[in-house]
Amino acid sequence: MSVVIPKPFVPRGGPRELATGPNPYLPAPARIMRAADLVPDVRLFELRFTDSTLADSFTFRPGQFVELSVEGVGEGPFSLPSSPTRRGVFQLGIRRAGKLTDFLFNYLSEGDEVGIRGPLGNGFPVERLEGSDLMLVAGGLGMVPLRGLLQYVVDLRERFGRVMLLYGSRNPDAVLFREELESLARRGDVELHLSVDATQGKPWSGRVGVVTELLDEVVCDVPSTYAVACGPPVFYKFMLEKLVAMGFGRDRIFLSLERRMECGIGKCGHCAVGYTFTCLHGPVFSYWDAMNLPELIYT
Ligand SMILES: Cc1cc2nc3c(=O)[nH]c(=O)nc-3n(C[C@H](O)[C@H](O)[C@H](O)COP(=O)(O)OP(=O)(O)OC[C@H]3O[C@@H](n4cnc5c(N)ncnc54)[C@H](O)[C@@H]3O)c2cc1C
Ligand code: FES
Repeated sequence: MSVVIPKPFVPRGGPRELATGPNPYLPAPARIMRAADLVPDVRLFELRFTDSTLADSFTFRPGQFVELSVEGVGEGPFSLPSSPTRRGVFQLGIRRAGKLTDFLFNYLSEGDEVGIRGPLGNGFPVERLEGSDLMLVAGGLGMVPLRGLLQYVVDLRERFGRVMLLYGSRNPDAVLFREELESLARRGDVELHLSVDATQGKPWSGRVGVVTELLDEVVCDVPSTYAVACGPPVFYKFMLEKLVAMGFGRDRIFLSLERRMECGIGKCGHCAVGYTFTCLHGPVFSYWDAMNLPELIYT
């Protein structure tokens, strides 16, 4: 009996030669042009490569990531929350988590340089999403890669149908890009549905509860909609069950998944689950491709 291996629904990522140079291990210097807190523990860094040719030519696909390094401190993968439609600079939304990110928060500011390798991974299949309605579902820091996709969609608004954003945060002070999202909603570019786990006594007009409850608020034409989700492992369990119960085909649900990574280019094996390398074959997977690899989604 022959075994048929289904073709993946999203492009395989991981160019052998990166935009940042022919040696994929060698970072290119980039200058911090702007650094501003989005919320107390997440900072938005705007960067520009010091080599102006690279700065002007650097492009990527929404959903890809870069490896950011500080010499003598460390290196880590970070999603790109900006859109390739906005050239010259790119952004990273970084949460303070440990050694590298503490250093970034404590010692680096505008004018300082870091190293960048990338872009890495596959990114969202934007060509496939064109012409359809989009339901973006974000939990916590999952808003970072989805903001890159959202910015792309807003810049090319006529190519997409309805855009619904369902976004859950811990509390009102933890909502990333809040002003920007509210302004896009006022302009009619996006239908915004926000939830928080708890208001903690702060003013709040959105829903209080888990982000999956927002799915009950939204009426959409499922066959003409793609769902794109990013959040922590706990967020996926009920959300995926609910999307399938709503009638979404597993090939019409895309997830951006994170594993511990080192090289980011499919060499070290740190991000591997079975034969799948998250850094190379992901971080974006269709649910169809990922459902037989629960370890990829839930840990
Ligand atoms: C594809 C991808 C995209 C990412 N995008 C972002 C992003 O946009 N913004 C952001 O703030 N973070 C993002 N991360 C997580 C980020 O890479 C880590 O938080 C960072 O590398 C931690 O480095 P550190 O030296 O500061 O912390 P460390 O001292 O290494 O660790 C501190 C804590 O963070 C945990 N941690 C470290 N690395 C990871 C990781 N890869 N995933 C989950 N937990 C980790 C450790 O277990 C530990 O508990 C992403 C990770 C991946 C794999
Ligand atoms: S991070 Fe090294 S193989 Fe994926």
